[in-house]
Amino acid sequence: MSALLLLLLGLLSLFFFFCLLRGRNRRDGEPPLIKGWIPFIGKALEFGQDAHKFLEKHKRKYGDVFTVHLAGKYMTFIMDPLLYPSIIKHGRQLDFHEFAAKVAPVTFGYPFVVPALQEQIHRSFKLLQGDNLSTLTESMMGNLMLVLRQDHMGGERGGGWRSASMYDFCNSVMFEATFLTMYGRPAGASRHSGMSALRDDFVRFDNMFPLLIAGIPVWLLGRTKAVRDKLIGYFLPHRMSCWSNTSEFIRTRSGLFEQYDALRDVDKAAHHFAILWASVGNTIPATFWAVYYLVSHPAALQRVRQEIHDLLRLDGVEFSSDADLALDREQLEKLVYLESAINESLRLSSASMNIRVAQEDFSLRLDAERSLGVRKGDFIALYPQSMHLDPDIYAQPQSFRVDRYIRDGRLKTDFYKDGQKLKYYLMPFGSGSSMCPGRYFAVNEIKQFLCLLLLYFDLQLEEDQSRATQDLSRAGLGVMLPAADVRFRYKLRTV
Ligand code: HEM
Repeated sequence: MSALLLLLLGLLSLFFFFCLLRGRNRRDGEPPLIKGWIPFIGKALEFGQDAHKFLEKHKRKYGDVFTVHLAGKYMTFIMDPLLYPSIIKHGRQLDFHEFAAKVAPVTFGYPFVVPALQEQIHRSFKLLQGDNLSTLTESMMGNLMLVLRQDHMGGERGGGWRSASMYDFCNSVMFEATFLTMYGRPAGASRHSGMSALRDDFVRFDNMFPLLIAGIPVWLLGRTKAVRDKLIGYFLPHRMSCWSNTSEFIRTRSGLFEQYDALRDVDKAAHHFAILWASVGNTIPATFWAVYYLVSHPAALQRVRQEIHDLLRLDGVEFSSDADLALDREQLEKLVYLESAINESLRLSSASMNIRVAQEDFSLRLDAERSLGVRKGDFIALYPQSMHLDPDIYAQPQSFRVDRYIRDGRLKTDFYKDGQKLKYYLMPFGSGSSMCPGRYFAVNEIKQFLCLLLLYFDLQLEEDQSRATQDLSRAGLGVMLPAADVRFRYKLRTV
């Protein structure tokens, strides 16, 4: 709450400064302009309350393309998903990296990245895919099994139900297993000490993430700077150099940073911390929603569980809850119902905005008939949540359907709007040049977690709880967190 007050104070001071400046007027060929009556802030407050509702309301009034004045920026929203390809393919005139290059350093506390390093960092993202994906996936499996077995599978076999908070459960297991997979383990131990304190600090930082991304200076956000410094301190080179089994991705990045004398140890550590955020900030809430939807739809859960058992049987694996399980990348790819369940929960819970910055004044061609006047510095935005919840594309868009992405036993990839096939129909991971390089790993690790959960445990929601709702403060930034945690029960299955 105090963070919100500080945000308001920050905005107010900017308000008086920008009161003096006049807003712009719409020119011929430009889309309808929605300015709002508050100077500088424009429509930012209304947008921030419920971005999806705001955009749908203005779409009804102004059509598929309109510009909104949001906190000093002019943002043109392209609402028709049939037009997405014309934005995504516009590489030169519409740039993503300029935006990210400004926002990420301020958020994670490292200095502006020189272009040569930026280029090398970008190339390192390949190490999350291809052959490295198999290694990462294998390592993640072992780490998930380790954490689950030590923390949740001890005690007597069949020893009754245990009660827990679902987000907390997903968070503790996924955070630690991902951490071990990416950064490795300490010398002479299989797990890092102080992991739960690190996780608590991460949650504190993560709660402030929307404000940092919005450009609120960290010194206005209470203890956030101290918490961030503590998190960064975890990754100082002298600590990381003692860890083993570090992923190729992180080792390569460490090597890169060593080549830049201008980077201090604390800057290198801040880069590693940023990757920690990228690798768990969305994956953990995405895991929560997948678990939540399956546990609250027992028939769907049973369908997915059966698919996993069928796969194991076909592969000649005799599953026993006494033994550890390993599922490799190829096996995970065959689990299409599981993938459909994950896609469906991402459709319902993700709300990442895809932003491009216009590099010059130009006319943006949308389709055969329409072009659009764009000014240098304007933002062009896609808001895929509107597509994800469009009843013309997805019947009953608010309901969870485990087989929505299945046809004839395979993953369904054809979805239509106005009778035309959509090139993009599910976009939790962004698009084009800014598309998430960790997307395959993310889906694999969520699949692995769900496989273990469904095979080893019986799961139930506790009674008398209201349905989980989304905390909208992250709208536009990724996967939404639940507004409140959900209580559930789990019990070891005896197979
Ligand atoms: C469900 C989980 C995930 C979701 C929904 C997600 C979503 C996204 C999105 C939307 C972006 C693009 C941001 C933009 O366009 O502004 C992005 C970027 C990125 N993601 Fe993910 N992500 C997930 C998991 C991961 C994982 C597991 C990793 C790494 C292990 C990762 C690493 C990255 C990196 C490094 C970038 C920056 C790419 C760049 O600067 O070009 N992500 N992610």
